[in-house]
Amino acid sequence: STTPVKVAVTGAAGQIGYSLLFRIASGALLGPDTPVELRLLEITPALKALEGVVMELDDCAFPTLAGVEIGDDPNAIFNGTNLAMLVGAMPRKEGMDRADLLAANGKIFTGQGKALNDHAADDIKVLVTGNPANTNALIAMSNAPDIPRERFNALTRLDHNRAKTQLAKKLGVSVTEITNLAIWGNHDDSMYPDLYNTKVGGKVAADLVEQTWITEEYIPTVAKRGGAIIAARGLSSAASAANATIDHMRDWVKGTDDWVSMSVPSDGSYGVTEGIVSSFPCVVKDGQYEIVQGIELNDFSRERIAASVARLESERDQVKELGLI
Ligand code: NAI
Repeated sequence: STTPVKVAVTGAAGQIGYSLLFRIASGALLGPDTPVELRLLEITPALKALEGVVMELDDCAFPTLAGVEIGDDPNAIFNGTNLAMLVGAMPRKEGMDRADLLAANGKIFTGQGKALNDHAADDIKVLVTGNPANTNALIAMSNAPDIPRERFNALTRLDHNRAKTQLAKKLGVSVTEITNLAIWGNHDDSMYPDLYNTKVGGKVAADLVEQTWITEEYIPTVAKRGGAIIAARGLSSAASAANATIDHMRDWVKGTDDWVSMSVPSDGSYGVTEGIVSSFPCVVKDGQYEIVQGIELNDFSRERIAASVARLESERDQVKELGLI
């Protein structure tokens, strides 16, 4: 079709935005035949910087970029939006604890949830990257009663991609050999990559490595990767986060062959508390994801998933107490 797909990005003048916008505009999200209109939201003081980014987008002369709108009013920016990537969030500052962070972000995601509810297109899909991503998605979803709940996802694809590469490196294989990998739980250091169902060239990944490697090296390396990047680069991961945001949204729109990790509102599958936004192995067909059913989880996996789900429940309880959901 020639009608441009309206893609909204919040926090568009930030680090992730600087990688993300150019990929979307170049066709990496929807392909070379689908024109996109970018709708970019920022806070007022960042609009000038965002104008500079738009100048650079112009200077790329992307054939798939049909237009760009910028602004600081979510009601205007989300008007008619088909796909929304909620990247902008309040970073944790010195002296802020997790409760302060949840409260500060709560205000952002209640407002954006309402604006999406009132102004987005009927086919809206919302992906939250800004942290704490899972709970921010829960807040936005809870403030958008007219949008089906399953249209709100959060990003655990970066954890998924990290988990895939670390396993591929350990086994000396290409990432293309690895299938049926999934991250479970929250996008924080409690996230759980399950190698007991992951396949490598048809074999079970956990059978090809030592259990101690999984618990003492693999899981901590994936969980602490964000910190390792800050320590090395002096800045948090941005290009890889943008890439994962594209991967998730592209797969959600276009479909999947293999399992992918998506944080989605739990329907109670695998005993994960209904209603919280938690990561599951998912497959996508016709623009709709499904949580993969019938997976056997061993005791170790069940324990790890339960611990991560407990974090999500605690975040949910906090934002409930703050009146945000
Ligand atoms: P950044 O600080 O460079 O950019 C964030 C941008 O959001 C800023 O330009 C800021 O002005 C904007 N912003 C703040 N409040 C806003 C609002 N109410 N509406 C619109 N824009 C607003 O941060 P960066 O590096 O781009 O990261 C963005 C978020 O993504 C952070 O919360 C970060 O923790 C998270 N993140 C999530 C990952 C994941 O895997 N889920 C991975 C990496 C980062």
